[in-house]
Amino acid sequence: MPGTAPGNDLTRAAEYGQPSMAEQVNIAAAYLRKFCPDTVHAGLILGSGLGDIPSFLTVKHSIAYTDIPRFPNSTAPGHSGNLHITEFQGTSILVFQGRFHLYEGWHPTQIALGIYVLKALGANELVVTNAAGALNPNYQPGDLMLIEDHLNFTGHSPLIGQNEDLGPTFPDMSQAYAPDLLIRIRAAADAFGQSLQSGIYAAVTGPALETSAERRFFSLSGADAIGMSTVPEVIAANHCGLKVLGISAITNMAVGGPDQKVDSIEEVFANAAVAGRAMLPLLQKFFQN
Ligand code: HPA
Repeated sequence: MPGTAPGNDLTRAAEYGQPSMAEQVNIAAAYLRKFCPDTVHAGLILGSGLGDIPSFLTVKHSIAYTDIPRFPNSTAPGHSGNLHITEFQGTSILVFQGRFHLYEGWHPTQIALGIYVLKALGANELVVTNAAGALNPNYQPGDLMLIEDHLNFTGHSPLIGQNEDLGPTFPDMSQAYAPDLLIRIRAAADAFGQSLQSGIYAAVTGPALETSAERRFFSLSGADAIGMSTVPEVIAANHCGLKVLGISAITNMAVGGPDQKVDSIEEVFANAAVAGRAMLPLLQKFFQN
C-alpha cells in the first residue's frame, strides 16, 4: 500500500511498508539485549514526581530513550527520558525513568512499545507508579494507594490495530492488577507498619485537570483516584502476559465539592515526593520476595 501510516499509529504500519508493531518491538529489544543480562525479571515505571531511581537498585547501564531505536521520548515535566538496567539481589530490573502520556501526543501504541520490549527481554512483572488526585474524600495528599482495578476514561486503547503477534485479540482484564502481587506488597507494608489505601484508578487523557462536576461524576462511577497515565501500559502488560502491580501517590484532593481548592502543580510534585519516599522501602521489600 502506498503512502505512510497515518499519524503515529504503529499498529497498521506493516501495510505501509514499515516494520510492524512486533518488528518494532524486536528492533528495540535487540538493541537493549546488548546491555541486559540473559533474563530481566521486572520493570518499574517511575511516575510524576517519583523520578529518582530507588537507591536500593544498582544501576548497571543507563540508556537515553532517544538512543533506543523506535522508542518515543518523554517530554512531560518531572519525567527524564532514560532507561536504566539495574540489579537487585541477583535479579535484573529495568527502570523507566520517565513515561509517555497521551497528552504529550504519543499514540497509545507508542506508549505501549516499552512494555512489549520488557516482555521480549524476559520480564514477567511490571510495577507502575503514578501521581493521582484523590476522588475519595477519605484520602489525604501524601497517601499511597494500591491500584486494585481501573476505569479507562481515556477513550483509547493501545491494542487497537494489528498486534496478534504480541498477545490475544481479546485479552482478559478481570484481574488486571495481579492478586498475588497485591498480597506481596501488602505483606511488605505490614512489615513496616505502613498504612496503604486500596482503590480504583480512573484514567483520563488530560492535560487539563478535570472540572469539579467531572470529578464528582468520576467519583460516582466508583473511582477513588484519578490521573493521566498508567492505563495504556497496564492494558498492554495484560495483553502480553506481564503481571502488574500499580501504586498511586496521592498528590491532591480532587473531590470536586464545595471545598475544592485550585490545583497547583507545585503541590502535586511536593506531595508526590512525600509519597514517593514512603514507597521506597515497600518496593525494596516487594522485590526481595
Ligand atoms: N487529576 C488528574 N491527574 C492528576 C491529578 C488530578 O487531580 N493529580 C495528579 N495527577
